[in-house]
Amino acid sequence: MQNNPRITEQLEAWVKENKGHAVLGTTAQYIPALGKVDPGKLGICMIDEDGHYYCAGDTDTEFTLQSISKALTFVALSCHYGLDFVLERVDVEPTGEAFNSIVPFEIHRPNKPFNPFINAGAITISSLLPGRNAQKKFEFLKGFLEELLGHPIEIDKEVYDSEWATSHRNRALAYYLKEANFLELEVEEALDIYISQCAIKVSVKDLALLGLILAYDGYNPITKVKHFSEEIAQVTKVLMVTCGMYNSSGNFAAHVGIPAKSGVSGGIMAAVPPKLHSQTYEFRAGAGIGVYGPAIDVQGNSAAGTMMLRQISKEWDLSIF
Ligand code: DON
Repeated sequence: MQNNPRITEQLEAWVKENKGHAVLGTTAQYIPALGKVDPGKLGICMIDEDGHYYCAGDTDTEFTLQSISKALTFVALSCHYGLDFVLERVDVEPTGEAFNSIVPFEIHRPNKPFNPFINAGAITISSLLPGRNAQKKFEFLKGFLEELLGHPIEIDKEVYDSEWATSHRNRALAYYLKEANFLELEVEEALDIYISQCAIKVSVKDLALLGLILAYDGYNPITKVKHFSEEIAQVTKVLMVTCGMYNSSGNFAAHVGIPAKSGVSGGIMAAVPPKLHSQTYEFRAGAGIGVYGPAIDVQGNSAAGTMMLRQISKEWDLSIF
């Protein structure tokens, strides 16, 4: 696809139209450092298979991965130990409960966490990463992400400290996991990796690139590097569709129809697979999308970001369904 200025103009118009939907949400108050950011921001970046970026709105602000990191740790762990190893330890079933709920554990006493995108599954995955201690495990993840992104990454120390000091519920969850023998580390160590991965700083451009690699089944069409298998990419995208937007995943599938993963920072990473029979020409060969809109709804998804994706998907016929 040519680097078409009309696409960027169109995205600018949709950012303007959707910015107001931020009033439908608020910034994540339970992590004070996230709570205090400007709720009115909205930015988007899309990347096509030739490496052209189309960006609009507030695209300079960096933010933290939060739950988007859960999709990436799942990929990293599966790459190292194989998908079977991971799926023996974490299931792929939605829960219908909030991402940080303890209820499914108490009610069902499952023999593994329901899925890797709820906090219970994600903390379990973090503890299983290769490495003989928490530091080595995090270094493995950091190295994996830096290879995907092609640049160094850093932790936002303020967000890390803010979550560490207030993560009483995650600590409680981690104790459940420890009691059930799911964790391969002590509670505080597993939490350290989990909170670190959530505090990794990214831009909408980074999320777009990660989305593109997922859309292309683990292959980066720009650098021509194959990072992970089709099988891993497929299961990750299934999880993104069924659990990626938590209890809005059904609505998101119906109205947007793009595999996506959200975070309480207001970020969304979306993977648009190629669709040769699309009714429009925009992004027929697939795309990656990164969105940032820090006012989140009750389910934990960017309020304005979700509405904007709805419009984009409809106008450019991007739904996979
Ligand atoms: O554990 C938490 O609560 C946060 N660090 C991440 C939660 C999150 O991003 C859920 N997303 N929508």
